[in-house]
Amino acid sequence: MLARKSLWIFFFVNLAIVIFLVHSVWTLLSLLVVDGSSDAISRAELPGPNSGLPKGKQTLIPRIIHQTYVNSSIPSHWREAQQSCLDLHEDYEYKLWTDKSSREFISSEYPWFLETFDNYQFPIQRADAIRYFVLAHYGGIYIDLDDGCNRRLDPLLTYTAWVRRTIPTGISNDVMGSVPHHPFFLKVIDSLPRYDRSWVLPYITVMGSTGPLFLSIIWRHYNSGGKLADKDRLRVLFPDEYSKHSWSFFTHHMGSSWHQKDVRVIMWMGQHWVFLTVLGFSVAVLVFLCLWWAYGRLLLSGSPKGQSLRRRLPFFRRLSNSSKAEYELLSRQA
Ligand SMILES: *[C@@H]1O[C@H](CO)[C@@H](O)[C@H](O)[C@H]1NC(C)=O
Repeated sequence: MLARKSLWIFFFVNLAIVIFLVHSVWTLLSLLVVDGSSDAISRAELPGPNSGLPKGKQTLIPRIIHQTYVNSSIPSHWREAQQSCLDLHEDYEYKLWTDKSSREFISSEYPWFLETFDNYQFPIQRADAIRYFVLAHYGGIYIDLDDGCNRRLDPLLTYTAWVRRTIPTGISNDVMGSVPHHPFFLKVIDSLPRYDRSWVLPYITVMGSTGPLFLSIIWRHYNSGGKLADKDRLRVLFPDEYSKHSWSFFTHHMGSSWHQKDVRVIMWMGQHWVFLTVLGFSVAVLVFLCLWWAYGRLLLSGSPKGQSLRRRLPFFRRLSNSSKAEYELLSRQA
């Protein structure tokens, strides 16, 4: 009897672990199938690079460009990209968020976040977080320093909020636009403290706590609550409209800081995190099978001859009509 009971306990504990694991990564799994195409900013809606806004379209997002850097001396390899955005948008307000001004802004406007902000282990987490806060607060368009502008961004001001789709999955936080107090960005800043966890590997920690993976998860949660009013929708800029063509909005420059070897490994992991997730799952299943096997071995160790595979797996044993004597043997050893 004991053996049967412990078998069930073993089985349910494992089942609970599997359900817990699937539940905790459910959003990640859904990212594999959700492509955001229903919210796409389609090329058909966009005016040509040199034409004005179509009749009846009005701008909603304020004309502000936000960028972030440690201080105000932008390294030379990014200056060209930065200048391309400044030159095309002389009528826009330009805000460069330095370490100092970012902290002052959080401290005075969002004091509830200051502790999390100060305690981030990596500076890039602060650079990620500040862009969500300034978009939620002032609205405007955030642009990473390694993104240059290829045409005026006015057509992108006619939506209430948008982000950029990355292939194969999810969204990125390198260019984003929003009106002030858009519900998506409010949800993002509200979620930041809850996602402030360490995942051992620096890259995963950054991705999951403040970076594109974090943003993609919030995106999924935001969109899974049913149909949104037009003003609350989060539109999605796809790669063609982002940077692939002469009529696309941005040009992507690679900063030289990305050329180190470890960063390349990390970039690879970022680009293949779907593969890594699947790999993680396979390892989990393998661990489960090994536990099962080990359990069977342990239970039957020292039992007389005849350890066929079927006999070593106690669950199968119980399903087959084992004799009472065998059960008693199991009970004594359990
Ligand atoms: C700005 O930050 C960079 C990188 O940390 C540093 O090398 C540079 O000296 C800083 N410049 C100023 C004016 O503080």
